[in-house]
Amino acid sequence: MKFVLLSILASTASGFTTLSPSFLPTSLSSSLPPLKSTPDNSDYDFSPTSGSQPALITNNNSDVWVPQRSRPRRNRKSQAVRDMVKENLVTPANFIYPLFIHEESFNTAIESMPGCERHSLDHMLVEVEEAMRYGVKTFVLFPKVPDELKTNLGVEAYNPNGIVPRAVSMIKDKFPEATVCTDVALDPYSDQGHDGVVSDGKILNDITINQLCKQVICQARAGSDVVAPSDMMDGRVGAIRDALDSEGFTDVSILAYTAKYASAYYGPFRDALDSHPGFGDKKTYQQDPSNGREALIEAMLDEAEGADMLMVKPGMPYLDIIRRLKDNSNLPIAAYHVSGEYSMLKAAVEKGWLDEKDVVLETLTCFKRAGADIILTYYAKQAAKWMAEDGLY
Ligand code: PBG
Repeated sequence: MKFVLLSILASTASGFTTLSPSFLPTSLSSSLPPLKSTPDNSDYDFSPTSGSQPALITNNNSDVWVPQRSRPRRNRKSQAVRDMVKENLVTPANFIYPLFIHEESFNTAIESMPGCERHSLDHMLVEVEEAMRYGVKTFVLFPKVPDELKTNLGVEAYNPNGIVPRAVSMIKDKFPEATVCTDVALDPYSDQGHDGVVSDGKILNDITINQLCKQVICQARAGSDVVAPSDMMDGRVGAIRDALDSEGFTDVSILAYTAKYASAYYGPFRDALDSHPGFGDKKTYQQDPSNGREALIEAMLDEAEGADMLMVKPGMPYLDIIRRLKDNSNLPIAAYHVSGEYSMLKAAVEKGWLDEKDVVLETLTCFKRAGADIILTYYAKQAAKWMAEDGLY
């Protein structure tokens, strides 16, 4: 089509034009008949350029002409022009790569997240190294904790010899330039399968924060660069900031799960960690998917309490929330492309219904366009690899 238009624009005063073969691959040029610049539509009843009230007019060259000075397609006319006017670019440095870890000496596939595994600690280092080779610099760790270590108070969350502190120091020892984030919440350590301490079927806010502060200090002592509270207790960001500062960890950042929704998209993640809620759901602490303004209340509070970055989770179904936070805060905004979103793409790709590379790179770009500076995605390593293969970064 592009060739046809170029050809028409280049047509002569005769009013007729034939496609210039030099524009076209031979197969295409031979399959197309010559085209007149003002087709007479002889096969049809209606000719837009004819009659007493023609719908379309012709220019000085007798070519069909829809008069308009602005033609947005000019900014899309070649790859070079499209690249020049591109508004949003995703780079591997924008990614945070979530890694599932466990105490075993082997990796275990996660059935509902094809391509993702629970890594042994040794293999976690291999995964980090590979991702870093493609420019991914930041990681977040999620542990699968054996059932016998789970308690209502989640005390394993602040065991200095627990899997997370050991994993953090292993990564920081081997790759000091990597940024390591740690998840702050009790669910992997809770025998109740909740993010906080449970009493009488309720998730207690303030005593949970007491436990989270212990968890954060344990992680900071192990070398965590960024703590990421995903628990949604009220006031936890401020308490965590004070705990960190009072122990001298003024450089440890807080990536707050600011707008974390009570979402069905977390299912595969809970499979991966065996962390499905033991009873009920998480709706007394995670947000109602029907609410948008509520995210702004959370954002204001997290910002005032000292958060360094604000996160929206899930990602794709909540692009409007990403945009609202971006417009209402000057802090960097992160989007979590969560497990269920990953699994949906994988399933469609496995069926051959979507092109994986194209759909993933488009999805990640959409996060940027919506306002995300940072993207947590299980596709981080793969996307960075595709970018490297395309010579982008
Ligand atoms: C728990 C936590 C969850 C995720 C990250 N941290 C699940 C939940 O809240 O139940 C979900 C991430 C994903 O689905 O990819 N604190």
